[in-house]
Amino acid sequence: MKTGIDLGTTYSLIARLQQDGTPTLLPDSSFREVYSTPSAIYLNDRNAAVGYLVEALLEENPELPVLRFFKRNFGAPNPIFLDRAGMAWHAETLAALVLKKLRFDAESYAGRAMEGAVVTVPAHFHDRQRKAVLNAAALAELPVLGLVEEPVAAALHYGVSNTCKDEVLMVYDLGGGTFDVTLLSMDERGVYVLAKDGITELGGKEFDEAIAAMVLEQFRNTHGSPLPMNGLTSLQLRRISEEIKIELSIPNKSFLKKTVLIGSHAFEVVVYRKDFEAAIRHMIEQTIEVSMRCLDGAGLREADIGKLMLVGGSSMVPSIGQRLGQVFSDSRQRIFHHEPLKAVAYGAAVHAAQLSGEAEAYEIPPEFRGVTGHHIGIQTINPQTGRMEVDRLIAKNMPLPAQATRTFYTSSATQTKIRLQVVQYHDPKSELTPVGELVIGPLANPALNYPVEVTVENTTDGTIRVRAYDPNTGVELEQEFGASGDGGASLVLQRNLVRSTFINHL
Ligand SMILES: Nc1ncnc2c1ncn2[C@@H]1O[C@H](COP(=O)(O)OP(=O)(O)OP(=O)(O)O)[C@@H](O)[C@H]1O
Ligand SMILES: [Mg+2]
Repeated sequence: MKTGIDLGTTYSLIARLQQDGTPTLLPDSSFREVYSTPSAIYLNDRNAAVGYLVEALLEENPELPVLRFFKRNFGAPNPIFLDRAGMAWHAETLAALVLKKLRFDAESYAGRAMEGAVVTVPAHFHDRQRKAVLNAAALAELPVLGLVEEPVAAALHYGVSNTCKDEVLMVYDLGGGTFDVTLLSMDERGVYVLAKDGITELGGKEFDEAIAAMVLEQFRNTHGSPLPMNGLTSLQLRRISEEIKIELSIPNKSFLKKTVLIGSHAFEVVVYRKDFEAAIRHMIEQTIEVSMRCLDGAGLREADIGKLMLVGGSSMVPSIGQRLGQVFSDSRQRIFHHEPLKAVAYGAAVHAAQLSGEAEAYEIPPEFRGVTGHHIGIQTINPQTGRMEVDRLIAKNMPLPAQATRTFYTSSATQTKIRLQVVQYHDPKSELTPVGELVIGPLANPALNYPVEVTVENTTDGTIRVRAYDPNTGVELEQEFGASGDGGASLVLQRNLVRSTFINHL
């Protein structure tokens, strides 16, 4: 069985293609009516509860420490959680538990072994974040066919179920925790990415917090004092805020009035849609700015967009469609939702068929081409000025796989190693994201100005690989490339942690 996994900030889903090529979601193994797994984990010594079970356990004990939103920490060096045995849990170890559970659910429902999975990542994820997702899959012992970007997956699903001719499609993907925008061209042969951009920390979480602030203010106004916060009240506030937000998305609902129970306090809450819209306006404007930057990156203008597809749960907030309608105002431009909560998982299942050579059997357009999301360069010291400079090797929005080769030279006769910092960045003025340090050597015949050829490759998964050659001998040089020296050791430790953690058997 080949599957597609949408590893979401708030909810994760797993899908596969049915015999006729239409995608379908696979349910939770314990709750067969549940088709999405909250990306939430409760760890208890060697046991882990993942997903819907965590929500059920919280009903009994709201004080349970639950880990959520870890997708935002992919690639970050610091652990998110220390368990009682003092073991450090990073985002990738926690995500591995989610993947392990999804695999278990899928296999127990379908009664078949998982042969391969495509896992989705936000389009704007850089190398370290993507490698963290691949590490999570390795820790979960999930056979990975490849990664696919969330908006691209959504477009693949759309492209398979609709005919698209010579049109540029913009996918606006606003989920529970991240925003992505991607421009694609599609035809009957496949899907081609033109440009992409995004924001790591923007989504439903921020919208919920805006509503929560209103609820808390109304509590203060009614009771004359702030709401006492504890495990129970935080849980109730979070759930109520999300519920209110979702209800406010119902067309023509201009306000919502309900009596809520938080802790031992029952009180009336009134939330006007216009107040919610005002509270999140600056965030929507940020998504518009990034969308414009994306258009600019592809050398296109608003009028070049034929269709604008909205995906991700948060894209259902009505003011988003309205605002996009002001920007893309040509009557021929279509702005629409296409299965906003499922399209990513469905498209990942489509891509799994493409990557495993089954596209023809399912009559899926076989071609697919992604682009680089960042400039990729090497930081060097300018010998004239002594200042750090970035030598750009691969530009942003180049077709994948992309590669470039540069020759570097030793600066003294006794230098036996060359150290190079590989970086990613959005534009020359923006912050540099370190990819890793490349250490080449020891060189067999050190000499002044000894040349070393370095090739940097951005793979179809969007991850970065480097190689170093000695052009004099044509031999590949010894090299190490990694974000930290003990990467391998910590991965083994983390793998043991995930292996020995039982899931959902508390
Ligand atoms: N009708 C709705 N109106 C507004 N928000 C909604 C609606 N339905 C769901 N949401 C919100 O959408 C979010 C979940 O969307 P989705 O499943 O697409 O995100 P995700 O995949 O978990 O996150 P991400 O893609 O950012 O990693 C939640 O914040 C949820 O509250
Ligand atoms: Mg998502």
